[in-house]
Amino acid sequence: MENVCRYTSEQVRKAGLTIITAHAGCEGTPANSLENILAAIESGAEMMEIDVRSDGDRLYLYHDAKDDPSSCVSFETFMSILADVPALRVNCDVKQEGLVAPVMEIARKYGQEWRILFTGSCNEDGLLAEGLGADLWVGIWDGDPKTVMHEHAEKYGYLKNLTINTNAGLITDENAAYLREQGVGLSGWTISNEADLRRFLKLGLTNITTRTPKLALALRDEIQGTPASCGLVPEAQIETLIRAAGKIMRSVPDEVRNNPDCKEGSANFVTAYDVKVQEFLKNGLSELIPDAKFFAEEDGESCRQLGEGYTFIIDPIDGTTNFMCGYNTSAVSVGLLLDGEPIFGGIYDPYRDEYFSAVRGQGATCNGAPIHVSDRPVSRGIVAIGAAPYRKDTLADTMLSMTGDLFAAFADFRRSGSAALDICHVACGRSDAFCEPVLSPWDFAAGTVILAEAGGKATSFAGESLNLSAPSSCVFGSAVAHGVALEICRKYAPTIEKVL
Ligand code: IPD
Ligand code: CA
Ligand code: CA
Repeated sequence: MENVCRYTSEQVRKAGLTIITAHAGCEGTPANSLENILAAIESGAEMMEIDVRSDGDRLYLYHDAKDDPSSCVSFETFMSILADVPALRVNCDVKQEGLVAPVMEIARKYGQEWRILFTGSCNEDGLLAEGLGADLWVGIWDGDPKTVMHEHAEKYGYLKNLTINTNAGLITDENAAYLREQGVGLSGWTISNEADLRRFLKLGLTNITTRTPKLALALRDEIQGTPASCGLVPEAQIETLIRAAGKIMRSVPDEVRNNPDCKEGSANFVTAYDVKVQEFLKNGLSELIPDAKFFAEEDGESCRQLGEGYTFIIDPIDGTTNFMCGYNTSAVSVGLLLDGEPIFGGIYDPYRDEYFSAVRGQGATCNGAPIHVSDRPVSRGIVAIGAAPYRKDTLADTMLSMTGDLFAAFADFRRSGSAALDICHVACGRSDAFCEPVLSPWDFAAGTVILAEAGGKATSFAGESLNLSAPSSCVFGSAVAHGVALEICRKYAPTIEKVL
């Protein structure tokens, strides 16, 4: 599928854009049909609306009670079709009482409860808040959205997370402005012609439900700006790609691991899988952000001018020596810069099945759970050392002497063989600092975003912020440990400067 939505509805809303919801029967398909589902997915809309009914036995997607259920798609089939679609939300217009719980039960079975939002005519108090981070969408068919908002505030004592979902005919410039001032969302249905789409996009509705989602998205780009121009990162799809790259790594045959080529410097190996994983990532990522440029290890450049727009910095397999030896400590690392500034990092350890990621300003996570650096004193902490193996001839003594000094200050030291994972382990508090005399931008671009968002610090041995366009010495640490490690590493900065 080519044009699936790249952003969740929450991301789009947070970026100040109108969510586009594909209405049943969108793009000229029969409502609630298989073609309808595929057209909605392929339109690129962030949300799709379905009508749900039950024949007493099973849940079906259909609008009118008179429809023949046997010709309709079951809700269960629908969930299985969506299994590989990353960000799309589903707005369930429940047409009969008592369907909220069974819908959620099936969604849960497919691990997709996060997709579901209820907006049906049969609002079931209390249950409607399930799904979508407890967002509550209240449907109104007549009256004034303002009045409904006040009634809601009186009934529940608050307005948080409320979106009024209404017939577009009830929306005026005045009530739209009023709801916005109150921080209440306003969603309109069913807006399908160009003039109306333009009007409601200019009004900045929270959501537009439309039978022409492709047109709505094109007009949104024109009127409100593209998601990319609002700084959005298609995180969910990037995660899917990075995890798939990790799967490729794990499928490596022994003859590939045992037959590496050598690059410049000592012990600098590359296997056919470093190249294969890199190609896989570049192909997938360039579909997600078509204008993005790439700075990737196996392309053979060591320095790069980082210009305007998006640049992915990729290490397809960080820890190639481990990978070759079957040491099972390697990772896929993908950083994303916008106008030279790091905005996203994703690092996947396929052996522990741990995916570390962060979007600038939004905190860091491991497999979705928030992570933070440790606050241990260094006397109880671990420092990881990077051996700068490709500069063994010039830096071995420096590295060993530095290790001795760090060992004396911390409880113990480690050498993992994967810089990307060393940074992640500092970010999640498993270790306290990580120092390496020379690393390349692909080793640390993703990690620095993750570490910064987890509350850690990163600098060169000279204490400067890290340069993402050329190799650099690196000190990473928790707030406590970074200071101690930097103090030690500083004295080695002049020696390293000479070899860079
Ligand atoms: C290497 C690893 C290693 C570090 C080297 C890196 P590669 O990356 O991260 O831990 O010591 O400096 O170059 O070559 O395996 O991608
Ligand atoms: Ca690397
Ligand atoms: Ca590598």
